[in-house]
Amino acid sequence: MINIVEVGPRDGLQNEPTTLPTDVKVAYVEALSATGLKEIEAGAFVSPKAIPQLADSEDVFARIRRVQGVIYSALVPNEKGFVRAQGAGVEKIAIFTAASETFNRKNINATIAESIARFDPVVKLAKNARLPVRGYISTAFWCPFEGRIAPAAVVEVAKALIGLGVDELSIGDTIGKATPDETRELLEVLLPVSGMDRTAMHFHDTYGRALANCKASYDLGVRTFDSSAGGIGGCPYAPGASGNISTQALVDAFPGSGVDRIQLEAASSLLNTHLQPRRPVGL
Ligand code: COA
Ligand code: ZN
Repeated sequence: MINIVEVGPRDGLQNEPTTLPTDVKVAYVEALSATGLKEIEAGAFVSPKAIPQLADSEDVFARIRRVQGVIYSALVPNEKGFVRAQGAGVEKIAIFTAASETFNRKNINATIAESIARFDPVVKLAKNARLPVRGYISTAFWCPFEGRIAPAAVVEVAKALIGLGVDELSIGDTIGKATPDETRELLEVLLPVSGMDRTAMHFHDTYGRALANCKASYDLGVRTFDSSAGGIGGCPYAPGASGNISTQALVDAFPGSGVDRIQLEAASSLLNTHLQPRRPVGL
């Protein structure tokens, strides 16, 4: 039994070269809602200059027909983003930082310490509003600029996020370079700090190792995994990042996710007709 957090409408669409019409995004989120997925990251209330592809997140949230029992979450980088997200009726927020200073600077224009300070009021606002908070740690294994990231660096960021009061951590292999050995090496020092129930893993599949990394995490007790229908995704600020592990791969590998494979394929197909052909990643 695993929990799947579907990140296609956010991690997937933020990396598309073109901005999809709001209508298509709404139809995509609604199709995903019909699959049995319990959590869908449906947008990002970040600067529209940073991620123009998701600038219409308010409209998407206003227009989707919500299915009871599904949590519709979104990325929130600062207080301004929180106000926007709350106005849009987001049910869970995700703050995001990284284990690499260089990546963090490029992605959110802050050092790791600055990002934690920036999130403090955001988490307080979320707690007051009774909204659960996820904390992403990107580049937790490899950074496109700094290379290999030490597990100890990830543990430090995890401690800081837990100190803020996040309910869940999502540990990201942003450029999809981790191996199962590296996954185990990190989780052995991280899980005693973060807790199995509070830890999600977020693998990209650049080198085809995402599923093996999920299995290695599962064996150590992790039960929550991020994925995108059809394996779209990537971060425009991380050169070399390719798609997330596909939701299909997770559903096939871990029986009992409660996700309907046929409906999932329908959601992927609906989106695929609107996507540009995938560029070769060149790795
Ligand atoms: N929503 C809308 N606009 C926002 C915003 C938000 N949450 N946060 C900042 N802005 C606007 C400001 O109003 C300001 O606009 P102006 O130039 O018209 O005055 C501009 O963005 C710059 O704001 P500032 O607070 O100085 O932020 P910054 O330039 O240091 O950028 C972030 C910091 C975090 C807002 C920005 O880097 C960002 O949104 N990054 C997200 C990247 C991302 O989503 N990556 C993918 C996920 S891995
Ligand atoms: Zn990602």
